[in-house]
Amino acid sequence: MIEFKNIIKKYRSKTVINSFSLKVEAGQLVVFIGPSGCGKTTLLKMINKLIQPTSGKILVNGSDISTVNPIELRRNIGYVIQNTGLFPHMTIKENLELIPKLKGEDPAAIEKKTNELLDIVGLNPKEYLHRYPKELSGGQQQRIGVARAFSTNSDIILMDEPFSALDPVTRSSLQDELFQMQKELNKTIIFVTHDMDEAIKIADKICILKDGDILQYDTPENILKNPANDFVSDFIGKRRVWNNPELLMAEDIMIPNPVKITAKRNVLQAIEIMKENKVDSLLVTEKNNRLIGLVTLKGIQLLNRNSEIEWVMEKNVLSVSQDANLISVLATMNEHKIGYVPVINSTGQLTGLITRSSILSALSSQLIDMEVAF
Ligand SMILES: Nc1ncnc2c1ncn2[C@@H]1O[C@H](COP(=O)(O)OP(=O)(O)OP(=O)(O)O)[C@@H](O)[C@H]1O
Ligand SMILES: [Mg+2]
Repeated sequence: MIEFKNIIKKYRSKTVINSFSLKVEAGQLVVFIGPSGCGKTTLLKMINKLIQPTSGKILVNGSDISTVNPIELRRNIGYVIQNTGLFPHMTIKENLELIPKLKGEDPAAIEKKTNELLDIVGLNPKEYLHRYPKELSGGQQQRIGVARAFSTNSDIILMDEPFSALDPVTRSSLQDELFQMQKELNKTIIFVTHDMDEAIKIADKICILKDGDILQYDTPENILKNPANDFVSDFIGKRRVWNNPELLMAEDIMIPNPVKITAKRNVLQAIEIMKENKVDSLLVTEKNNRLIGLVTLKGIQLLNRNSEIEWVMEKNVLSVSQDANLISVLATMNEHKIGYVPVINSTGQLTGLITRSSILSALSSQLIDMEVAF
């Protein structure tokens, strides 16, 4: 775990970090994102003591790093800097093995891991192990930088815009690999980027920074759904939710409190309630609001007005759960050729109703191009 406690950093009289406090839980991938100059690199470098805070404390796994020897600390924290920082006079193999060797790890184990890491970052060990950094493209060097950060067996990896020099295709595949590696190896990673799409794709949590302050620190999902202020909304872009439709839940697109009726009422009353509310169907619920059926105007208008709803309603009504995402809701509606679907919570209580028009209005409020949806 990494914890910043009231960190302040001043350069002469200028404050660049202003009482910054943040906890990064072990095993999480946290992305720092924000405009140029907002202090991302400064914060990262404080963790491995390349920069000293003016005041405040940083705890790594519970110990105050001001009491830890910097060399020892850095050996245990992988660090990827933007221009890779590979040693030019060492081969790729020597670059990757430098720190594990310094730490006295078993040579056979080191060699095995070097090969595995090159495979993971998509470079053939036979071809690349004995080359020098200048014999690799910029993107390939960045991949070696990433492999090196993972070579140290450290629990913590700091990555400062590690993919910035890569073409979009390589970048996307390395994002996938990083995500996979992080889940498998359970590292704690702080990752700096300018790219919100990258952040959403890989982060457990995103920390949005501006002028050394935290504007919002939350999961990608919550940031997209509830941006803390206008700056965050602008930063993530208004159309962003549409790029990630799986983030829209049934709860976000349903009409809350749909018109309903209890089973003990009769057909006459049902027709009245429909007229009053200008709807042509009613959801039938028990006293505790559990959904038990559905009646439609078409289905009941010719029946005896005194019949109890319980005996005329359609049972086995299809419903979706509150946390089903937009894509699965649309799939359910298409598969069963229905224009609406009730939404229930985990105990089967009715919480809302999704209709084609509720989907359209949810989507258009996100400034979404509706042609894409239908
Ligand atoms: N040695 C220094 N002396 C004075 N000011 C500095 C020094 N190092 C950094 N700064 C200032 O501190 C602020 C934060 O810099 P930092 O490098 O952390 O920004 P950043 O968020 O990483 O930006 P970028 O996205 O451009 O990499 C900037 O305004 C920068 O000019
Ligand atoms: Mg920076």
